[in-house]
Amino acid sequence: MKISVIGCGYLGAVHAATLASMGHTVVGIDVDAQKVAHLNKGFAPFHEPGLDELLKDGFATGRLSFSAEFEDAASASLHFLCVGTPQSKTSDTADLSYLIAATKSLLPHLAKGAVLVGKSTVPVGTVDMLRGVLARRPDVLLGWNPEFLRQGTAVKDSLVPDRLVYGVPGGNSSAAGVPVTKALDAVYEPLISAGIPRLVCNFATAELIKSAANAFLATKVSFINAMAELCDASGADVSELSEAMGLDPRIGNRYLHAGLGFGGGCLPKDIRSFRAQARALDVSSVEEWMGVVDSVNLGQRARTVEVARELCRGHLSGRTVTVLGAAFKPDTDDIRDSPALDVALQLAAAGAHVTVTDPKAINNAWMRYPQLRFESSTTRALEGAELVLLLTEWEEYRSLSPEAVGALVRRRTVLDARNVLDAAAWEAAGWTVRGLGTGATAEASTVTAPVISVDNSKRGVTIL
Ligand SMILES: NC(=O)c1ccc[n+]([C@@H]2O[C@H](COP(=O)([O-])OP(=O)(O)OC[C@H]3O[C@@H](n4cnc5c(N)ncnc54)[C@H](O)[C@@H]3O)[C@@H](O)[C@H]2O)c1
Repeated sequence: MKISVIGCGYLGAVHAATLASMGHTVVGIDVDAQKVAHLNKGFAPFHEPGLDELLKDGFATGRLSFSAEFEDAASASLHFLCVGTPQSKTSDTADLSYLIAATKSLLPHLAKGAVLVGKSTVPVGTVDMLRGVLARRPDVLLGWNPEFLRQGTAVKDSLVPDRLVYGVPGGNSSAAGVPVTKALDAVYEPLISAGIPRLVCNFATAELIKSAANAFLATKVSFINAMAELCDASGADVSELSEAMGLDPRIGNRYLHAGLGFGGGCLPKDIRSFRAQARALDVSSVEEWMGVVDSVNLGQRARTVEVARELCRGHLSGRTVTVLGAAFKPDTDDIRDSPALDVALQLAAAGAHVTVTDPKAINNAWMRYPQLRFESSTTRALEGAELVLLLTEWEEYRSLSPEAVGALVRRRTVLDARNVLDAAAWEAAGWTVRGLGTGATAEASTVTAPVISVDNSKRGVTIL
């Protein structure tokens, strides 16, 4: 099948290469000519494990190419829309202008009866809006196929997804939806034959499934982070608490790890968009819920800065601080809404001399925040530190030797804001170790009576 993929960022480049690996002839289209040139050399313009190999395989078969010209998509019978849907600069809503622009650019090149399928994460009602953009082309079939890949494991997630969701006209039982379902079945034939579950639904459901899934994941993270705050106030240990909770199969331990919280180009903007959708649909429970999840998440960044201040005996000004991690999570160079960089900026604003290091994201971070000091070598970044903060849990940082790092720093104090270090081993090497939710606040302030409630009124947070 001849397919085009419009928008070749973290989602689109992986999708294009995956489709080529399934035997389709694929052209990826992007308005960013530099990105296209990079991709055409067979290299991903960002760090994603396994993507370079998949791109090279695609080029070797002659089935994969990239272009900045929409006319190169003209021979495709099916087009995937993978452009960004970032948070609007002025509100919580998703900015759909890239989606509209891409659809308009593609419009003159759509063959008769072509199928246009969205993969971007969008608010409910987006397909109806795009139908309006395509008003003069009733022959064009529309579908929505939300994507669930995760950066860092995007290639594996695309080659072996958990499920396929098709939003089609009229939904599962409608004859109107059959042509789009058949077209998508032809695209994903190898996955369907391998037994990957496939769900067919109407457009509103397909649009909501992705938002609801992200809202649930964000809820889990913020729930355990709210528990971490309770643990700190009561002397409990959130790692043990979450381990015990997660052993219940109804709960599960994934996304139940307390720490600095989530960031990136998806979860934060998706829960805000979901909140805005709920507001527009007058569903106040979801609106309030998403507000709490967002607030707890952002609160973790402020808490981390406060704990850092405490560890510097109340004064950050003039302190030499090393931040391990700039990417929003390990195994990516993506720094969009990175909690680590947010904390680094707050520490610098409080007067600390901050050095940030990261295995892959230094260039992106430096271009975005030239006011911060970056160091690509972990060793050099650590030299002379009075406080070390582990903010992105790269394997390289998890496996650091406390003795070796101890020889580099001026003071052996570490704030493990991802709760991943072996605290006992670091303490045995003479380190003062703090995590988030490890009960340290209660111990430090010698709380004797159990604390059974937390007053979060200052930031309007209700514990879920
Ligand atoms: N990144 C993820 O892990 C992930 C996972 C699932 C879903 N999504 C969703 O996928 C969408 C894309 O996310 P991303 O992370 O790939 O974003 P991204 O910013 O990395 O990529 C978007 C790409 O679209 C291109 N683009 C913008 N306007 C265009 C136009 N008019 N025509 C052609 N190309 C255009 C940009 O140049 C960019 O390369 C978003 O809706 C996101 O929520 C992302």
